[in-house]
Amino acid sequence: MKEEIQDNLIQIHDLRISIYSEGSYFDVVKGLSLSVCSNEILCLVGESGCGKSITALSVMGLLPTDVAQVTNGEILFRGQDLLKLSASDMRRLRSDEISMIFQDPITSLDPVFTIGSLLTEIIRVHRNVGSSEAENMAVDALEAAQLPNARQRLKSYPHELSGGMRQRVMIALATALNPAVLIADEPTTALDVTVQAQILERLRERQREQKMGMLLITHDLAVVAEVADRVAVMYAGEIVEEASVQTLFDKPQHPYTQGLLGAIPDITARRGSLHAIPGRVPPPQVPPPGCEFAPRCVHALEECWESRPLLEGSGEGKLRCFNPQPLIT
Ligand SMILES: Nc1ncnc2c1ncn2[C@@H]1O[C@H](COP(=O)(O)OP(=O)(O)OP(=O)(O)O)[C@@H](O)[C@H]1O
Ligand SMILES: [Mg+2]
Repeated sequence: MKEEIQDNLIQIHDLRISIYSEGSYFDVVKGLSLSVCSNEILCLVGESGCGKSITALSVMGLLPTDVAQVTNGEILFRGQDLLKLSASDMRRLRSDEISMIFQDPITSLDPVFTIGSLLTEIIRVHRNVGSSEAENMAVDALEAAQLPNARQRLKSYPHELSGGMRQRVMIALATALNPAVLIADEPTTALDVTVQAQILERLRERQREQKMGMLLITHDLAVVAEVADRVAVMYAGEIVEEASVQTLFDKPQHPYTQGLLGAIPDITARRGSLHAIPGRVPPPQVPPPGCEFAPRCVHALEECWESRPLLEGSGEGKLRCFNPQPLIT
């Protein structure tokens, strides 16, 4: 673990998010708590549909409010509850203080604007600068994201760029104003492996240079091993285990985490993504009465079927399990 982890930037307490679908409400995030400090990368991992993106969108104030709403909890940024901010205050904070790289760079870049206008718009909304200074700042942001021929690229439209270039533009947009917090939701999933590695390396350098707090959502455990300081494992809308990257890979305790890590033997492994665990995540409409993982867990005890374990532990590590297992190697 790095020496210089600093104060909490984001603190999420007991967050509950409900979705309205086919005439009923059900919870997809169920009392989630986690924090992101400055100058650290917290990786959030978990199977598809467990609520990672919905959680990220709620921090950004960008939940699709026609179907999703926060029903409990708080999301503190430097101690201020983002859920209580007005829409205009939240807009002011976005890009400037808290920024996000979205899961899909193709649909996230508006196709009718050039790269230059997308960038200068964000810069001018948040900074009191003229057009030529905004343009210079846009070029700086693109160069920092290592987009070749940055100044010429200002005139390009998103469709004229490759996937890797578009993702660099997304990074430039998200980091142009040096936000304190950067949320990156599967930022490299759509890219080929060599481009992925370059983009991640650049993102991490940027994070270290700016001492940003970064929440990185990824399926890829090789990425986690490479860049994370801490890891939070999410299952069916809850955090089930949280620890430093070293501890999580060396001594995972939750049977779910152990299942996820089953595909890669050690932290130095370069490949590997979330391991398939027999069974399926329970549908959020009908959660089981006890531990949500019990139906798939070979170590489940009677109490696991009957009551829900709490997330317990300290800043060093947290676990939600009645029957943690020593790792069998
Ligand atoms: N706009 C929406 N309308 C209805 N249900 C939604 C919507 N967005 C998310 N959900 C539901 O909320 C739950 C959590 O979805 P979310 O997108 O947060 O998952 P995720 O962990 O990011 O998955 P993935 O790894 O596939 O990106 C899922 O059950 C999903 O079906
Ligand atoms: Mg997602």
